[in-house]
Amino acid sequence: MKDTLVIEGGHRLQGQVTISGAKNAGLVLMAASIMADGETILDNVPVINDVEVMVCILNDIGVKTEWREDGSLSICPPQGGVQNHTSYELAKLLRASNLFLGAMLGRQGEATISLPGGCDIGTRPMDLHIKGLQALGAELELEHGYIYGRVKKANGARVYLDFPSVGATENIMMMAAKTPGQSIIENAAKEPEIVDLANFLNFMGAKVRGAGTDIIRIEGVEELKPGRYAIIPDRIEAGTYMIAAAISRGEILVQNVIPTHLHPVIAKLQEAGATVRETDQGILVRAGKQILPIDIKTLPYPGFPTDMQSQMMALLALADGSSMIVENVFENRFQIVDELKRMGARIKVEGHTAVIEGVDSLLGARVKATDLRAGAALILGGLAAEGETTIDNAGYIFRGYENVREKLNALGAKLS
Ligand code: UD1
Repeated sequence: MKDTLVIEGGHRLQGQVTISGAKNAGLVLMAASIMADGETILDNVPVINDVEVMVCILNDIGVKTEWREDGSLSICPPQGGVQNHTSYELAKLLRASNLFLGAMLGRQGEATISLPGGCDIGTRPMDLHIKGLQALGAELELEHGYIYGRVKKANGARVYLDFPSVGATENIMMMAAKTPGQSIIENAAKEPEIVDLANFLNFMGAKVRGAGTDIIRIEGVEELKPGRYAIIPDRIEAGTYMIAAAISRGEILVQNVIPTHLHPVIAKLQEAGATVRETDQGILVRAGKQILPIDIKTLPYPGFPTDMQSQMMALLALADGSSMIVENVFENRFQIVDELKRMGARIKVEGHTAVIEGVDSLLGARVKATDLRAGAALILGGLAAEGETTIDNAGYIFRGYENVREKLNALGAKLS
């Protein structure tokens, strides 16, 4: 796929768009699938580059995978266990590769994980994952860029997370699912993807209670069984199309969504002047007469998602006044600012805070995606801009948005 997206700006988007399965739920469920013997079938897996990398990692550790004719993904780990080693070449491409740590320790008591790569949005340490897995009885050593893990005697334990890390909560849940006794995760992440993982584990026979609250209780079981499970829709993809409606002065019905997952985004879009209605068919978003300036703080769920921060910044670049965004989750998530400025945005950054002075119009320019969501924000800017916007490094965008060109063009955009 070519690594550049060209957008002819100024077209009003109108119509319906169907949201794909959630990237972040899909990735963790793919890792969790190795915990059961036999074939697991996942429905609603988005066909995006991050999923393709996860498939390569699965194949590399000996798991058979197959995209079936109906679009579902079959995952079949070998009897008796996977190779407990993820390679540097693949792991460096994807942060979520770290999720094999909890899955492998839970399944077979051993794991060697190359320290993961992924979008450059902050330091992304793994101390909370390590602390939690150690509490359950894993011995972990960090050497030469790998985490070596081995379980001698696993036992359920109480783990308090200093920050509700999504990945740490997921890794601990997976190991705890097969660790004898009761484990309790306090200050757990509450994201919908955590609930989806809990539902999937329970569907396989695990005993996970409380997911979606900040205390998750897990009673270890001996065996997990495979089956067929459908992944939740992607709330970040949905939120991005909702902003596409607002920024292009258009009207879009966003279908295949779970509205409660989007309440923080809906609230902020309404505050910014858009009309948002939950209907039987999905969420209908209509641009307001003007874009109103608002303030946003990113926070763990149910706060405003950091993964929607860049897209919202693109919208506020065109607001009628001055807005403020405080990024509280990742320390390096304002790389988008320089790119939006190339399009005429007026944004100042001081530490974790960005102040956005709305301008009347953005102008098409040559820009580059610096991470997945920054790339999505540049598409949004390009939709509203006068003239042509060329986005380099568009590969970042294809990591997380299924058929983004086709979906936007079907709504009346001009992307090539
Ligand atoms: C997941 C999502 C990502 C989203 C993020 C926050 C996946 C594949 N990715 O990433 O899209 O932006 O949640 O909603 O699901 N931290 C530590 N120590 C740790 C772990 C994390 O200090 O051991 C810090 C991180 O540096 C960061 C914050 O916690 O500042 C949030 O990270 P975390 O929730 O772990 O994000 P990910 O699971 O990497």
